[in-house]
Amino acid sequence: MAARTRLLQPSPTLAMTAKAAAMKAAGEDVISFGAGEPDFDTPSPICDAAIDALRAGKTKYSATCGLKELREATALKLVRENGIHVAADQIVISNGAKQAIFSVLQVLINPGDEVVVFAPLWATYLQQIELAGGVAKVVHCSADNGFIPQPKDIEAAIGPKTKAILFNSPNNPTGAIYPREIVAEIARLAKEHDLWIVADEIYEKLVYEGKHVSIASISDDAAARTLTIGGWSKTYSMTGWRIGFVAGPRDIMAAMTTYQEQVTGNVNTFIQYGALKGLQMPPEDVEAMREEFMARRDLMASLLSQIPGVGVGKPGGAFYHFVRVGEFLGGKVADDIALTEYLLHHAKVAAVPGSVFEGPGHIRLSYANSREAIKEGVRRLAETLSCLRT
Ligand SMILES: Cc1ncc(COP(=O)(O)O)c(C=O)c1O
Repeated sequence: MAARTRLLQPSPTLAMTAKAAAMKAAGEDVISFGAGEPDFDTPSPICDAAIDALRAGKTKYSATCGLKELREATALKLVRENGIHVAADQIVISNGAKQAIFSVLQVLINPGDEVVVFAPLWATYLQQIELAGGVAKVVHCSADNGFIPQPKDIEAAIGPKTKAILFNSPNNPTGAIYPREIVAEIARLAKEHDLWIVADEIYEKLVYEGKHVSIASISDDAAARTLTIGGWSKTYSMTGWRIGFVAGPRDIMAAMTTYQEQVTGNVNTFIQYGALKGLQMPPEDVEAMREEFMARRDLMASLLSQIPGVGVGKPGGAFYHFVRVGEFLGGKVADDIALTEYLLHHAKVAAVPGSVFEGPGHIRLSYANSREAIKEGVRRLAETLSCLRT
């Protein structure tokens, strides 16, 4: 196989989800806090719109960059909700946010170019940067700062080979929301050093504390150097549909369209009609899901905070708690990877080790699960962890 295949690592989150699912299928009573996807059904108006499109024969190739009406609706959403002033020809509809980020990196990064990223982070960035021939410059963010990067650390990571800054707010795995001052600082540094900005805003609608700020809305300069990534997966519980978008300068969008043309072509045509319906739905439908996530966040935080030795904060967004578990490591279980294996087998609870997000000494617990499952799962964690305290 080609050398580049040696770079590839399977997604640890998907691996843990699959392991928990296999144990469940074998009849074991596993509670999964591993999932990176909402547990709600896709809203039925979206499903109906896709089914109607399928029945109406919308089954042929469409424009590679996406249906005009979907790009128009996406641009309108970005103008109204995010303060990003783009038109339909500045949008490319992709096979999920994941493919959008991959294409952006393929289009921007030359071999040896550096991309500044902030850890804990979604591990896919590291793989995709490498696949583009780039080098990730990882800035580690401390829990003491709420996992928000500090200006002096960002600046220290920028060098002559830096081509882009890639960041994700609201954040997976920490749930952190970057405050406006930090977003503005990233924009300032990008201008000063003439860098691209890749802003992964896939969790933008899942905000419980503070306010999501799109970096492309900060200034005209920031807009001209930012590729904003978003999508339907988390907002509308559409992870399996595989549809996302990128918005940015026209020349980059043209290159991305050509790239996508040679790799996947358009996103399924009838799926795009479902996504369009999502953008046309009243905001209350999304709001109900956000409110439920917020209640679960609070429930899980309050239960976890009662476990001696567990460090838990109050993440502002997404649907994860990134929990400090250092006190349980070094004895019977060596590290967070061993701990998640131990928890799966002894507590029958699935979690993802922090190490896979470059955040060792932590585990990521997703609260995309019912309140009942959260109560029972955290009860089991408390019981099992009490035997591990060093
Ligand atoms: C930070 C982040 N970005 C992007 C994605 C991918 O989203 P999509 O399903 O639209 O490809 C995920 C999915 O887990 C994610 O956590």
